[in-house]
Amino acid sequence: MAYSKVKVTQFSKDFNWGVTISAYQNEGKWNTYGKGKSIWDTFTNKPNFKNGNGNVATNFYHHYKEDIKRVKELNLDSFRFSISWSRIFPEGTGKINQKGVDFYHKVIDSCIELNIQPWVTLYHWDLPQALEDKGGWTNREVLNWFENYVDFCTKEYGDKVKNWIVLNEPMSFVGLGYFMNMHAPGKRGIKNFLSAAHHTTLCQALGGRIIRKNVKDAFIGTTFSCSYVKPVNRLVKNKKAAERIDTLLNRFFIEPALGLGYPIDTIPGLKQIEKYYKPDDEEMMKFDFDFIGIQYYFKIVAKFSLLPPILFATEIPATKRNVKTNNMGMEIYPKGLLKMLEKFNAYTDIKNIYITESGVCFDDVLENGKVKDKKRIDYFKKTFFYTLKALEKNIKVKGYFIWTLVDNFEWAEGTKPRFGLYYTDFITQKRIIKKSGLWIQKFLSKKQHQS
Ligand code: NOJ
Repeated sequence: MAYSKVKVTQFSKDFNWGVTISAYQNEGKWNTYGKGKSIWDTFTNKPNFKNGNGNVATNFYHHYKEDIKRVKELNLDSFRFSISWSRIFPEGTGKINQKGVDFYHKVIDSCIELNIQPWVTLYHWDLPQALEDKGGWTNREVLNWFENYVDFCTKEYGDKVKNWIVLNEPMSFVGLGYFMNMHAPGKRGIKNFLSAAHHTTLCQALGGRIIRKNVKDAFIGTTFSCSYVKPVNRLVKNKKAAERIDTLLNRFFIEPALGLGYPIDTIPGLKQIEKYYKPDDEEMMKFDFDFIGIQYYFKIVAKFSLLPPILFATEIPATKRNVKTNNMGMEIYPKGLLKMLEKFNAYTDIKNIYITESGVCFDDVLENGKVKDKKRIDYFKKTFFYTLKALEKNIKVKGYFIWTLVDNFEWAEGTKPRFGLYYTDFITQKRIIKKSGLWIQKFLSKKQHQS
């Protein structure tokens, strides 16, 4: 079968179709309605940050109702969003902001009214600034702060929400935020990286345990970014370089949860992380998740390099390789999704896999009221096709969540990369459905209803 013929009826009727958004990228109302500042508010409001800020974003805080209706109009089953920790606890711990608590009740209720399943992510990168002031993820105290936050959210919303996601892409927020100074909080260095990484791994499992305790019949997962990594050629040194990048990007945070420890087999330098261990940590890193979310966007081509010590590997930019790229300069490679599904499925202890994000960004333009984003339709057709291929291979993939509903604030890149099924006019906050949105709507209209 050709990918252009892909049909929703080829998927089982229980296959879950959804869309994902996150708090910081959409909510706006960054310092009003009782919300405390997060590390992203600080980071993007610094004078040296040149790509705008998420102070308004898509103003989901005031547009949530219509946006959730859009989820329904697209014929999707599920809506994944995140809770902003500093909207609930402005100082990270202690005093609660009731307006923030009520806001998420309204979001959840709006989903339920429309028969859309809410999937809640507890942490999508916006740590309260007050906690970063005390060291953030590098401070082991974060275990207590996180426990308190997760305990509160799950007790508050657990009667209504069954699908919970502990973390969004730990390697992104730890790697870019605490090692490369590319994301908030803008830190660098191996010490920051290893301490933040270890505490994140512990919180990943801890979060799972708290949800299990507080929410009856909870369906508990956590998500991982993943990239399909290939060596530039067959030279052993380049193959090994690709293996090390793969380890860092695709194995680092999942393996400790599965009881396999950190993957020091291919990157022995990572053993330094043990400096941050306390007795019983190895046990505390484990949690038996009900599902794992994978988030796939691009392929990486790797080669040996002396420059980054520890890793001895670097990426050859897609823009230098004569391949199709998105407007963040990453290679668009739909088949990589199948490769990633195969890779994660090979861990026999993973029970279910959801594609909790996948999508593509372009410089979409609005012309005569229309956005003709054919290349995005092509991306979804192909990734749906490869998801079907995975199902044919008995891979336990149970759902696909599109990134994202409306064009939003893309972190350090600002509003230039547009990923939405709806075009956002950031001045008027008008949302205009793109051709891809219409295509998804039609594709899913043939879906048989879930039993
Ligand atoms: C993954 C992140 O979870 C999301 O916040 C981001 O916008 C997308 N990747 C696209 O880069």
